[in-house]
Amino acid sequence: MADEWQRAYEVAVDVARKAGAVIRKAADSEIKVSTKSSTVDLVTKTDERVEKIIIGALKEEFGEDTHCFIGEESVAKGEACILTKKPTWIIDPVDGTTNFVHGFPFVAVSIAFAVNKELEFGVIYSCFEDKMYKARKGMGAFCDDEKITVSDVKDIHKSIIISEHGTDRSPDKVKKIFSTMQKILCIPVHGLRGSGTAATNMCLVACGAVEAFFEIGIHCWDIAAGAVIVREAGGILLDVDGGPFDLMSRRMMSANNDIIANRIIKEIEVFTAERDDIPAQKK
Ligand code: IPD
Repeated sequence: MADEWQRAYEVAVDVARKAGAVIRKAADSEIKVSTKSSTVDLVTKTDERVEKIIIGALKEEFGEDTHCFIGEESVAKGEACILTKKPTWIIDPVDGTTNFVHGFPFVAVSIAFAVNKELEFGVIYSCFEDKMYKARKGMGAFCDDEKITVSDVKDIHKSIIISEHGTDRSPDKVKKIFSTMQKILCIPVHGLRGSGTAATNMCLVACGAVEAFFEIGIHCWDIAAGAVIVREAGGILLDVDGGPFDLMSRRMMSANNDIIANRIIKEIEVFTAERDDIPAQKK
């Protein structure tokens, strides 16, 4: 990695920590909630404010001519979500907005950086736990400067699996999600969990607390930073049908190893979600 990206990595850690402090403070005051794609897809003034703070700080440091930005709230307002070869920041200012609104204490700031369409580093700050997860390509994964690795469990019966329900409540999709969960539970596995933030879920895979996390309907900003952290912790990423992982596909399986991943994949009732990188006018 060029020195320039090392500096970018350090700035990302610093910015994520500062953003987390803003979120913690905002949690103590009145939270104004609006909705986006559905009545359960929540957004708050804090999501928007924190994204502005993060992108503003990164633009000040690196300029906006050479660097591109994909931010959850900017995309919600109509900005493009296309990954080009240019250095690109992929940002979820408040991952776990529903948790934030309800005071459920798992909320993360997620910042990833890609060059030539390859993820170079990821930073996730779990701001109420005050845990900083980070990883650079080829350099290992860390939580608060301690190296983390995925679990070595290969026996599915000894695993904990995470999945989420997402924000699309079409009855046919919810049926598939619950049918998948039922089948996984009955393998049986030790347990099924969900923290309500994809970024934190991926950190739980990376530090070996759970064996796998998968979701359909997720977005690139939820998983970009986590993808680097899981890989650097020794884990793997796949599509939910066993094919290669595609950041923009809105489908993701992250796991400690391919034995666990493929065993879970056997039970997943796959459905498609509209890709993140479809130009706005075609949506
Ligand atoms: C959501 C969380 C949640 C996942 C949803 C995401 P947000 O992100 O990551 O765990 O199930 O699919 O949209 O909206 O809180 O940034």
